[in-house]
Amino acid sequence: MNLFVIIKAMIIKCDLLIKNGKVVLPNKIENVDIAVKDEKIILIGLNLNVEANEIVDASGKIVVPGAIDAHTHLAMSYKTTFSADDYFTGTRAALCGGTTSIIDYPCQTKGVSIKETLKPRFEMCQKDACADYSFHCAITDFNDGEILNEMDEACENGITSYKGYMVYKKEGMMLSDQMISTLLKRTKEVGAILNLHAENYEMLEERCQKYLKEGKTSPWYHYMSRPESVAAEADKRAIRLATNLKAPLYLVHMSDKEGLEAAIQAKQAGFDIKIETCPHYLEFTNEVYKRVDGINFVCSPPMKNKESQDALWKALNDGYIDTIATDHCPFKKEEKLWGKDDFTKTPNGCAGIENMYPYMLSKANEGKTTFETVVKVCSYNPAKIFGCKNKGSIEIGKDADIVIFDPNKDFVISVKNMHSNYDYTIWEGHKCHGYIDSTYLRGKLVFKDGKFLGKRGSGKFIKRTRYNRG
Ligand code: URP
Ligand code: ZN
Ligand code: ZN
Repeated sequence: MNLFVIIKAMIIKCDLLIKNGKVVLPNKIENVDIAVKDEKIILIGLNLNVEANEIVDASGKIVVPGAIDAHTHLAMSYKTTFSADDYFTGTRAALCGGTTSIIDYPCQTKGVSIKETLKPRFEMCQKDACADYSFHCAITDFNDGEILNEMDEACENGITSYKGYMVYKKEGMMLSDQMISTLLKRTKEVGAILNLHAENYEMLEERCQKYLKEGKTSPWYHYMSRPESVAAEADKRAIRLATNLKAPLYLVHMSDKEGLEAAIQAKQAGFDIKIETCPHYLEFTNEVYKRVDGINFVCSPPMKNKESQDALWKALNDGYIDTIATDHCPFKKEEKLWGKDDFTKTPNGCAGIENMYPYMLSKANEGKTTFETVVKVCSYNPAKIFGCKNKGSIEIGKDADIVIFDPNKDFVISVKNMHSNYDYTIWEGHKCHGYIDSTYLRGKLVFKDGKFLGKRGSGKFIKRTRYNRG
């Protein structure tokens, strides 16, 4: 018997076989079967010679890689409270929405090292995380240069992205342009990438004071204090700072047309500018701040006008948006109401962790974008940009993070059918045309037919590779 015949005759034992689905692969959509063993995808093809412990029939369904939400704020401290979801409820909700990995944003406080900032986060995740996780570290203070010295070792340990805020001065989080330039230089040097929240603090603060003095305190003035121009100025400044140093830059939660166009121009000129936007900017406009529940939509940057929204959709479909992430940071209704007589007192942030993938996939199902685009921006690109080398695609050798999407299962989002720890959602009543049927995390079924089946503490840390060096 020659070798070819022996290999053909060899039946491979595997844990799971997903059959008959339409699979979104890195460069094509194909009807193929997927075999999984020991948490990994081991074979992809038709008529696989395998014997599986479990066979799943995905006929009529679309099979996609698990999403990576590269922008969450779980257990984020704010004044006397915390964002509503901790690492348990947040990652539980993520899995129920087909997101199998998250990259969260712990924030350094003055005088504290990167290691010390992340230590309690690692502890919480080891105990609580149901999905796989990593951290970007937001930097607020250089600690006399210690932070910059620490970055190389932190990268070696898998923390290969950092964040800077151009706002939140009163909270002690804002960086000067000089600090941003230093961070851009240092991240480039060590093989990391800097993520920036771009809004102009001076512009928005002046507007806040003016409106409050005039007795204009409603949520609409949250938008009016941070309109398109406030984001655009900072977007453009951030782009200039990065292109000046030829350093990579990742602009988080892009919301405005002018800033978006500046970023696209920089990309076209060959600079390494990455653009993230969020589902709430694609779905809602500034009109939400006129609603009776407008306060619930208070987040920064706020939703913008229809022109900006249309520009974001166009950029997505033209291939200029690199990633979609949620900026998941909900607060309870009662906490949002802190701002009922003064919009500046409303805790900023909205929910999205369970909604991103169903929303985007259902938009593909409706023809507003394509399944390939959704998989690219929600899974493949975040994995590539942030160095999650075992994630982001259905390929042999990758982690078996697999989502089965049922294009015929309609679903109406309600706080009652979500898996977070909040008491309202901005997505209430939103109709998804198609929904997640099941989610597998490293080959384990963790969500099926509306039920969470995962395990608290079973999420693994994603040790990320350095930027563009993976
Ligand atoms: O409103 C938001 N986005 N809150 C979370 C912090 C941030 O700015 O990303
Ligand atoms: Zn932000
Ligand atoms: Zn954020």
